[in-house]
Amino acid sequence: MSYEFLTTRRDGRVEYLTLNRPDVRNAFNERVIAELTDWAAHTREAAERRDLRVVVIAGAGKTFCAGADVTWMSKTVQYTEEENVRDATATSRMFAAVNELPLAVIGRVQGAALGGGAGLAAVCDIVVASDDALFGFTEVKLGIIPAVISPFALAKIGRAAARELFLTGARFPASRAKEIGLVHAIVPAGDLDAAVARYVEEVLTAGPDAVAAAKALIPRVWGLTTEAATPITARALAMRRVSPEGQDGLLAFIEKRKPSWR
Ligand code: COA
Repeated sequence: MSYEFLTTRRDGRVEYLTLNRPDVRNAFNERVIAELTDWAAHTREAAERRDLRVVVIAGAGKTFCAGADVTWMSKTVQYTEEENVRDATATSRMFAAVNELPLAVIGRVQGAALGGGAGLAAVCDIVVASDDALFGFTEVKLGIIPAVISPFALAKIGRAAARELFLTGARFPASRAKEIGLVHAIVPAGDLDAAVARYVEEVLTAGPDAVAAAKALIPRVWGLTTEAATPITARALAMRRVSPEGQDGLLAFIEKRKPSWR
């Protein structure tokens, strides 16, 4: 696929996606949103065929992503209410499309992840950040709110951190982002690619169907009582155990050989 503001590179079963608008710190306007949505649809198809097993999302230049393009957003004053809702819905769908990709999505964060940039980090399964990266749900500083990213951010950081960070719009370091679950690993900037590569390798040793099933299970079980969860979790495990991939993985361990996906 060829895009104006995204670059992609395939390496075997791994796709490297780079937001490529460094002059505005990879801020996203309607064009970036349309491109990301389209990319996510194609990536979903490739993931379902198991042609792809991991995606790494990065930002070109010194910043991961400065969130929504403020110049573009300021012009939405000329939109009708209906147009504004349609536009915000498209942004929400973009985040949802990335959030629900049936493979492992790794975020590689340097510089800053602010507003929707922090939202993009929130829809990644694994986030590796450089030790100098800054995060923030900065929308209130601009008189707006972290609305469409809120379901994804809340699922990562919880209500207590959201009440502080959504209301203050304060910028916070990678160490705080790790404490609240937005970031999984912090490394010196020069070690980012190596740290990402370690996660990529780790995921590639796991069964691709199992990875997709494990990811799908999390939102289904989250918040349920054990009683409500049991039929779902029992069935999910039962299906994996008898699946070709599950059988291959279990027998490979017993037979001291590598499973077919490796
Ligand atoms: N939308 C539009 N343009 C943006 C932008 C955004 N979200 N973030 C940065 N830019 C533009 C700046 O206006 C500047 O443009 P100029 O070169 O024409 O002056 C350019 O990108 C570089 O920004 P600058 O602030 O000089 O870069 P920096 O590397 O010193 O700082 C950030 C990077 C991301 C920390 C800083 O730009 C910033 O705080 N941006 C706002 C982020 C934000 O609050 N986003 C929430 C949106 S809801």
